Amino acid sequence: AQPGPTGRGALTFRAVPPNTLDAVVVPNGYDHAVLMTWGDPVEPGAPAWSVDRQSAAAQARQFGFNNDWLATAPLGRGGRRALLVVNHEYTNEDLMFRGFTSVEALSVEQLRIAMAAHGLSVVEIERVGATGQWRPVRTGPRRHNRRITARTPMRLTGPAAGSSLLRTAADPRGVTVLGSLNNCAGGLTPWGTVLSGEENFNQYFVGGDGVPAAAKPALNRYGITTTARYPAGSRRWERADARFDLAVNPNEANRFGWIVEVDPYDARSTPRKHTALGRFKHEGAEIMLAPDGRIVAYMGDDERFDYLYKFVSDKRIRRGDSAADKAHNLTLLESGTLYVAKFDATSAGEIDGSGALPSDGAFDGGGRWIPLARGNRSLVAGMSVDAVLVHTRLAADAVGATKMDRPEDVQPNPRTGKVYVALTNNTRRGAAGQPGPDEPNPRSDNRHGHILEIVEAGGDSAAETFGWSVPIVCGDPADPSSYFAGFDKSQVSPISCPDNLEFDVHGNLWISTDGNALGANDGLFAVPVEGPGRGHVKQFLTVPRGAEQASAYLPPDNRTAFVSVQHPGEIDGATVDDPASTWPHGTFAQPAVVTVWRLDGGEIGR
Ligand code: FEO
Ligand code: CA
Ligand code: CA
Ligand code: CA
Repeated sequence: AQPGPTGRGALTFRAVPPNTLDAVVVPNGYDHAVLMTWGDPVEPGAPAWSVDRQSAAAQARQFGFNNDWLATAPLGRGGRRALLVVNHEYTNEDLMFRGFTSVEALSVEQLRIAMAAHGLSVVEIERVGATGQWRPVRTGPRRHNRRITARTPMRLTGPAAGSSLLRTAADPRGVTVLGSLNNCAGGLTPWGTVLSGEENFNQYFVGGDGVPAAAKPALNRYGITTTARYPAGSRRWERADARFDLAVNPNEANRFGWIVEVDPYDARSTPRKHTALGRFKHEGAEIMLAPDGRIVAYMGDDERFDYLYKFVSDKRIRRGDSAADKAHNLTLLESGTLYVAKFDATSAGEIDGSGALPSDGAFDGGGRWIPLARGNRSLVAGMSVDAVLVHTRLAADAVGATKMDRPEDVQPNPRTGKVYVALTNNTRRGAAGQPGPDEPNPRSDNRHGHILEIVEAGGDSAAETFGWSVPIVCGDPADPSSYFAGFDKSQVSPISCPDNLEFDVHGNLWISTDGNALGANDGLFAVPVEGPGRGHVKQFLTVPRGAEQASAYLPPDNRTAFVSVQHPGEIDGATVDDPASTWPHGTFAQPAVVTVWRLDGGEIGR
């Protein structure tokens, strides 16, 4: 039953060659269609969208910008209806508004449109006939359809909720935050909710020069400038909402950078930011169940030289589906142990940064999960539990965690429990004054990234020790520094900058890329991680010019690939009026979600 060239889960599609087309390209025998585009109505009664007739009130009910992570959750039985849940990571105002010149010149209403285009969308969708294609439900009550924006009220949970680090003038109790920002990747939970990671929240704040001196080091560690009122690249949202001015609200930035839990089945529910899972530039969170029923969440902090984390709940899951079981499971992420990873190596002295394998034939070793906080107790000397959870990067620095090459998505294989980490790239690895190559990050000037595999001790996701190896070092197969688990490189697709990870029902790993440094468009790749096909990376799809292949989801029936095409046309100097891409509707570039299906109705990848 292991995936491989002859197994049922074999990846027999013909690989799509690298290209620079302004199109989504799928393999022979497949078709694709746009499911949701920026601006499409989400909440019933939302107005039709036009680039020339935008408003914040309308955008708050329409599909947001820059769709990132997505998944579907079944709606009823029979497999004909589902909820599409999508993150909207950030906005490109130059690709949103005609006549764009600078963020400083945007109107306050345009800033409010951008805020409303952030967050998440929940959309009821239905299958088209008996195919793998889906479309939005356009009539009826659609009571699950919901937009969550940069202003939606959310509740803080866990040990740091109410902390003095989280209180503001508008929220003196430190428990209610308005909105979620920079929602990047995420995950589904076994109890029917979604987790969404708040990633690069630093860019929304100005006024760091005006905060008390004692607060500056922590802001700096999270990428917030404290030497200038207006940092380069600032979005200038403080012109529309003073809470984004740290000189006025110094704690507001501490209220972002969390894992947010949303219940897509209850449109009236309040999203919750879980402080027990720590605060950093959260890429996402993906869940495994430990053998004893505790919940394990794997998480990356996407920054050069930052860390890999996991959370283990105190409580065990209840497996029933009663309302009481669900209410219990909704508390699982509110208390537990937060760990950071430290990697030990087997061939430390032999790593020269070239990517050459050491004499034992593998980049590999053991490692430890170092606990930072357990329940209400800090395990880091000199830091309170509030400080550990709000300034988690400082806590991980203090315990000597391993500095990684930008940990993006961290995905457990549900068939084996092994955990896969996308380390997207790090061109500063080995540069003057920066950390050099090490065995888990073996290449200097790492332009193309790599994939790391973790095997938890005893196969227990809650274990405190693990083994690891690097099965894939990305790049052009012709580049001697690339490595594909020993598979014949002449059969492998070039791949660069792995970002989002997903498993299909057969245990094949699907890799979405962001920032292809090989000169071709980004795309979606599939690779077996067990059996004789291990390392046989094949490109399944390419996205249009300037786009990121942000994420893909393959539901359990494996007959559809839901694909998130983010920031098409994001090329320096391009605008709505002078676009670098006209995908998907032939006018100007718009982010959109696509479904891909097989013409004969069969499984994706076969
Ligand atoms: Fe938003 Fe780390 O990708
Ligand atoms: Ca990402
Ligand atoms: Ca994932
Ligand atoms: Ca990325």
